[in-house]
Amino acid sequence: MALNLDSIGKKIGPLTKEYGWKDVILYALGVGAGFDELEYCYENRLKVIPSFAIAAIFDFLAQAGLTSNVNLAGVLHGEQDLIFHNPIPPEGKLITEGAITHMYDKGKEKGALVIAEGDTYHSNGQKLFTNILTIFGRLDGGFGGPESPKETVEFPDRPPDFEEIAYPSENQPLIYRLSGDIFALHVDPDFAKASGFEKPIMHGLCTHGYACRAVIKHLFPGEPERMTRFRNRFSRTLYPGAPIKTQIWKIEEGKALFRTLNADTGDVAIDRGIAEWVSKAELEKRSKGGWIRFDDRVAIVTGAGGGLGKAYALELAERGAKVVVNDLGGARDGTGAGTSMADAVVAEIKAAGGEAVANYDSVSTPEGGDAIVKAAVDAFGRVDILINNAGILRDKSLIKMEPSEWDAIMAVHLNGAYNVTRPAFIKMREQGYGRIIMTTSAAGLYGNFGQCNYSAAKMALIGMVNTLKAEGEKHNIKVNAIAPVAATRLTDDILPPDLQDKLKPEFVTPLVLYLCSDKCPVTGAVYNSGMGCYNKAEVITGPGVTLGSADKLPTPEEVAAHMDGIKSLQGAKLYANATAAVGALFDAVAAGPTQATPAPPAAEQKPQLTVQGVFDNIGNAFRSDKAAGVDVVFQFKISGPTGGDWHVIVKDQKCQVSSGAHAKPTTTIVMGDEDFVAMIGGKLNAMQAYTSGKLKIEGDLMKSQLIEKLFKF
Ligand code: NAI
Repeated sequence: MALNLDSIGKKIGPLTKEYGWKDVILYALGVGAGFDELEYCYENRLKVIPSFAIAAIFDFLAQAGLTSNVNLAGVLHGEQDLIFHNPIPPEGKLITEGAITHMYDKGKEKGALVIAEGDTYHSNGQKLFTNILTIFGRLDGGFGGPESPKETVEFPDRPPDFEEIAYPSENQPLIYRLSGDIFALHVDPDFAKASGFEKPIMHGLCTHGYACRAVIKHLFPGEPERMTRFRNRFSRTLYPGAPIKTQIWKIEEGKALFRTLNADTGDVAIDRGIAEWVSKAELEKRSKGGWIRFDDRVAIVTGAGGGLGKAYALELAERGAKVVVNDLGGARDGTGAGTSMADAVVAEIKAAGGEAVANYDSVSTPEGGDAIVKAAVDAFGRVDILINNAGILRDKSLIKMEPSEWDAIMAVHLNGAYNVTRPAFIKMREQGYGRIIMTTSAAGLYGNFGQCNYSAAKMALIGMVNTLKAEGEKHNIKVNAIAPVAATRLTDDILPPDLQDKLKPEFVTPLVLYLCSDKCPVTGAVYNSGMGCYNKAEVITGPGVTLGSADKLPTPEEVAAHMDGIKSLQGAKLYANATAAVGALFDAVAAGPTQATPAPPAAEQKPQLTVQGVFDNIGNAFRSDKAAGVDVVFQFKISGPTGGDWHVIVKDQKCQVSSGAHAKPTTTIVMGDEDFVAMIGGKLNAMQAYTSGKLKIEGDLMKSQLIEKLFKF
């Protein structure tokens, strides 16, 4: 049997475990808690000992061992690192997912290390803790893998600041095993002897729980929820009943080193211990911020020197993210540059206790994009979140818009998003995690007079989102777009000043932060957001009609005749990608031509009649059965903004309409455009129109009466 090297990176879980107050108390009793730490043992004021985090997900440890195919005859729990994101509630369901991340070779006689990492969430949605565990396979060395990185913990050269002695009972493993680790080595004397021990031994994780209690008791008594990290190496086994001593060195505020030893022999059972914790104030701040947190996440916000970007950066930092505040510091139209805008936001974040660095590069060049991402990696080592937010305006109607104004907008909004997203995406792929936001606009989604450069750039970003959602999918990179509405310097002459308060950028922030969080399941979506209203925008596709065939191309006239069906959105669908949309087209063609134009849906309003529409549709309105023997040319002269000249020739029971004047019309109808539309639409009686002077007839008056008979609109 050899280690399964292919198991590296393979997902373990989700593994779920329901637990209640009795499980929490049973664990506490298993690791020696009692009346003097009643907060761990009494359901009325119950707190969870943080080391419960590994006992509660023992299945994950077991799965990691099985998946890696480590030789169980030589397996030991080598090291354990617990990182706490939120206090563990006293009941609920734990959901754990992770993977084996590394396998290291210590040499043929020395064994191998299998490292697995899992994140555990509570059923209330909160991320509770991350477990990084090392399984030591004594019999698996020499497989040719990489050497393990050398790490060591130097204890200070002075007596410990605190010592705690505990006297576990001879029966301690019998209680502890009820929390999940029922391995026979800790209960069965015969099994223990066969394994080379005098009698059953203590669980390493039981001693670990004693150590955890000792650290809390001396450093932040009664407040286990303040612990943020508990890391150690398991070095020797202990027999139950041996007194254990935990030695603690506080090396700085929020950090201590510890080890636990057999108080009789001095043998170290738990070594290289590191404990970290936060102050009460920090804990309160974290819990005030809600459960969507960004601790250990690194975010880049472009254009974060003011407006929306500043609001995002402040809230991300408030919730634990390390933020790169990028801003060119120029004017609203993108001219000029400066450092003060980004610096001011960084100062504000730092003053509130957050972490941030400033960056002043322009998003509009590939070099700028690279430098922005490099700033994040240099300062914080990774990039988890990118909000493409930088923006400028150069509004002009198309005719007045110079190429420079078109190019400037493309450079910042469209090229800017490409320039920063590409290097960030490379990092995110390496990490297997990323959240990207594109900032689009209602001007792009729906159009806005005088902004064709801006609308085009903003809509192009939706195209990027549609494709990047596919490219990021298997790397856990989610890409979404938001169209904000907020009062900023960009909109100060567009949005009504009396609505400034309602239009605060902070109303947009919650959706953006949700989309940036690890709780976000969405990718490829577009949302509008402003004043507390959030909704989704989509491209949907109607069922349409199919016309013609391979040997008979459809004509424009057929298209005209089927316009109702072509434009109908009844039964419209969303397509996940271009392949699905084009596939639907193939399916429709395979089903054959549409027989008749589907009736417009009941809810759909009848299209408004226009003068042009009347003449476009005259072929459909013509009743050839009433036209036997008729030979006439009707000339229409319609005045008004939507008017014009058309003539209609009726001959041989056929009708032909053309625009312009006929040389020899039989009858000429002269009318204003609104009256003409009203008359055709049945709202104005023809006789009344004639007698009131709204309808003038020139030429053959009698023939004009044929119109009513020959056309049914
Ligand atoms: P803003 O003008 O307050 O913020 C934009 C920031 O981007 C500025 O601080 C500016 O210095 C920075 N910037 C400009 N060019 C840059 C470059 N080349 N490199 C780095 N930074 C640069 O405006 P606002 O409203 O906060 O805009 C943020 C984003 O939201 C923009 O993309 C904008 O188009 C978009 N938007 C805003 C709407 C609103 O109602 N405020 C509506 C729709 C979209």
